[in-house]
Amino acid sequence: MTYHHIKVNALSPAVGAEISGVDLTRPLEPAVLAEIRQAFLAHGVVFFHDQPMSFEDQRRLAEYFGELHIHVGGKGTASKTLEGYPEVRKQHFDRNSKRVSGEVWHTDQSCSKVPPMASILHQHLVPPDGGGDTLFAGMYAAYEALSDKMKAYLEGLTATHDGALIFDKGGEDEYPVASHPIVTVHPETGRRVLFVNRGQTAYINEVSRAESRAILAYLFDHIEQPEWQMRFHWRNHSVAFWDNRCTQHRAIWDYWPNVRSGYRMQIKGVEAPRAPQA
Ligand code: SIN
Repeated sequence: MTYHHIKVNALSPAVGAEISGVDLTRPLEPAVLAEIRQAFLAHGVVFFHDQPMSFEDQRRLAEYFGELHIHVGGKGTASKTLEGYPEVRKQHFDRNSKRVSGEVWHTDQSCSKVPPMASILHQHLVPPDGGGDTLFAGMYAAYEALSDKMKAYLEGLTATHDGALIFDKGGEDEYPVASHPIVTVHPETGRRVLFVNRGQTAYINEVSRAESRAILAYLFDHIEQPEWQMRFHWRNHSVAFWDNRCTQHRAIWDYWPNVRSGYRMQIKGVEAPRAPQA
């Protein structure tokens, strides 16, 4: 892939690339934006360093790609909606935190009917001694590595995603629940994706609960293999922009009692995840 306006450095074969030569605190030229989109679609998650963005800068970047998604459910979650900014989740963790956001492998908000297509996390303060990395996994590669027999078995099956699995109990009475195909097709690249995650996928709808448990256990283990993962090490004012339609991630809480503090915005999905056409 050729880039003329930005520098793109792939971080693993399956997922992740760092982009440099861009200032996200200023409006972006169409040609630069087109190349960021190209890298985002090719790598599933792109990272930028040294970007001291304001909320307005972060919102402008998000809105180049679509409307903002407002987080559904999860009043009892570790992250909180920022007062006065309904589109911003504050992800601040310190010595008083009982848990942090995203410690289990997940796709953001897969429990919503139309999950957000992407998330943009600006980490403005990271722990002083390392720690607080995020793992990302590429779901094209995870799908492609399944056996042909398993691919055939999964085709046409759907799964229920339930927010109650990931959100704290006691925060509210009702949690978002949605069904999605287990194999989806990315609406922009046309590639097949394995679309279940340990954090929110409760069961496969078309088989017995015993069969569902066994198959999901296999798929979660498969998805979490290192071959399609990478580990991102944040700096103060790093930004990660990930595609929820083809990646999963997991935040590592190894920095207590230090502080890690960031703000996340999400971009609306324009359609529900759909199954490939036969
Ligand atoms: C999340 O948005 O799921 C958390 C990611 C992170 O804090 O690294």
